Amino acid sequence: MHDSGGAQIAQALKHAALCLMLLPRFLLAAVMLWLLDFLCIRRKMLLKMGQSQDSAEDPPVCVSDANKMFTVESLRAVWYGQKLDFLKSAHLGRTAPNTEVVLVHERRPRIVRQYADIADFLVVYIEEAHPSDGWVSTDAPYQIPKHRCLEDRLRAAQLMLSEVPGSNVVVDNMDNSSNAAYGAYFERLYIVRDEQVVYQGGRGPEGYRISELRHWLEEYRNSLLRPAVLHV
Ligand SMILES: *[C@@H]1O[C@H](CO)[C@@H](O)[C@H](O)[C@H]1NC(C)=O
Repeated sequence: MHDSGGAQIAQALKHAALCLMLLPRFLLAAVMLWLLDFLCIRRKMLLKMGQSQDSAEDPPVCVSDANKMFTVESLRAVWYGQKLDFLKSAHLGRTAPNTEVVLVHERRPRIVRQYADIADFLVVYIEEAHPSDGWVSTDAPYQIPKHRCLEDRLRAAQLMLSEVPGSNVVVDNMDNSSNAAYGAYFERLYIVRDEQVVYQGGRGPEGYRISELRHWLEEYRNSLLRPAVLHV
């Protein structure tokens, strides 16, 4: 009895410490979302973000005027994403978590084909960032409710395959293990080599940079082509 009370207090303290640590970042994001609901500010910010983008390859952050940014659901989603990011077990230079995923289908697309000689590509479809019954995105081409079971998730992943035929797509399990281990929500890029995380992209959408991934792969390919020098 005493022990479980102690454990409960420890748990509560841990939770409180986590909340305190995440609070500044969360409040900042909340203020940003609130500001983004003023359309003139939204347009200006999106323009600025577009201009500061180094590469045309990186998908621009787009938000239509009709989209509400500051809602209970959006705040919940942002908090959840920041918490996952903070607690993730995938870290640069460390062993890559080998989480369970479910196979959808196998084939291959563009950046994938260009680097097929040095890398295998895998899309892990996780929970929806903008489910139709959560933080709705009016920009989304599909309105998908939160996945209640694995079948829902597999069905939604099939849509991804129909949009990008040829990608290797697997889905996260219903414990959302990959999402948690990699802090993937809303979206994220990783490169794993010899079971180590060798590239960890920023949190999407603003930190999602395909150009960075390409840069890493180019450098890696060059390092393979360079003749080995033997120092004796
Ligand atoms: C995983 O995410 C889905 C939403 O896609 C949710 O319904 C489910 O409860 C989550 N699982 C856990 C263990 O949190």
